[in-house]
Amino acid sequence: MRLILCGFGVVGQSLAKLLESRSEDLYARFGLKPRIVGVFDTKGSAVESAGLDLSKLINVKKKYGTIKKYSSSKNNLSGVDLIKSLDADVLVETTASNYKDAEPGMTHITEAMKHGLHVISVNKGPLALAFPSLMELAIYNQVLLRFSGTVGGGTPILDYAKNSLLGERIVSFEGILNGTTNYILTNMTNGMSFKDALNDAKQKGYVEADESLDLDGLDAAAKLVILANWVMELKVTMPDIKRTGIRNVSADDIKNAAKKNCAVKLIASCNKELIVSPREISLDDPLCVNGTLNAISFTSEHSGTQTIIGRGAGGIETASSIIRDLLDIRQEISKI
Ligand code: HSE
Repeated sequence: MRLILCGFGVVGQSLAKLLESRSEDLYARFGLKPRIVGVFDTKGSAVESAGLDLSKLINVKKKYGTIKKYSSSKNNLSGVDLIKSLDADVLVETTASNYKDAEPGMTHITEAMKHGLHVISVNKGPLALAFPSLMELAIYNQVLLRFSGTVGGGTPILDYAKNSLLGERIVSFEGILNGTTNYILTNMTNGMSFKDALNDAKQKGYVEADESLDLDGLDAAAKLVILANWVMELKVTMPDIKRTGIRNVSADDIKNAAKKNCAVKLIASCNKELIVSPREISLDDPLCVNGTLNAISFTSEHSGTQTIIGRGAGGIETASSIIRDLLDIRQEISKI
């Protein structure tokens, strides 16, 4: 399978490392031989139709901070140039999420689908702003759109709800979908001020470059949009979410919750309404996980409530979700 990789940040580099280290295993176990034929970062591009040398790509990025120096030719191409000029099967979109216009990811995804490429996106922006129309575009162009890394990172939350609960009717769900705010609230529960807890999270590298995405609940809301569309088949986008972040959670709120044997958590819920908001959760509830963990409880008509807990972020974890999506795409196209 020939891949075009959009973005070569933490997730893109982790994917290259994972493909390199797992290439024999992927081939032996699944007959999968992915080759990255084109990649770009903010400063330039690298192209090799037979497949880029992944060790060299990673070393060049480490040495120069960009993959532009991989080769002296075709090193200035944009994502759209790569889509138009290369023979490829799958576009992997890993550029940063934004919730204003979702660019450049939106253009990468739509152009790729129009050119007949399947798409794997770990970028939440395009899905949060236009999930229903992107799904329609995929169907119209007879391509597959996969995005399991957008919710839960390496923890297969979307697959669990869609496939493991196949045939069930999920009536509601609620979860902690943002690791950074969970880390901050956990620290506050342990006595830290909001400011100190935020600084600690920043030092550990958890907070998004635009801190508002975490603190104001945009990241959690984007994940809620994706879940609501994929799992509940609701045709919703970001403006449909009622959203409150954690900036106004006070030490008193945390103390009052503790008196009731509860903790304050940023909860994304789908139950008649779609809401992201800080809420008191009983310490006995399996949803009440600490640190950077994510957790989600699905309530189904006949199977009761089930909770999945796992790490919701991280380069290598998210890269592993891309491999999962690649295998899924290969399995789907082999049925045709
Ligand atoms: N900022 C996100 C989080 C990263 O803290 O969960 C993963 O989407």
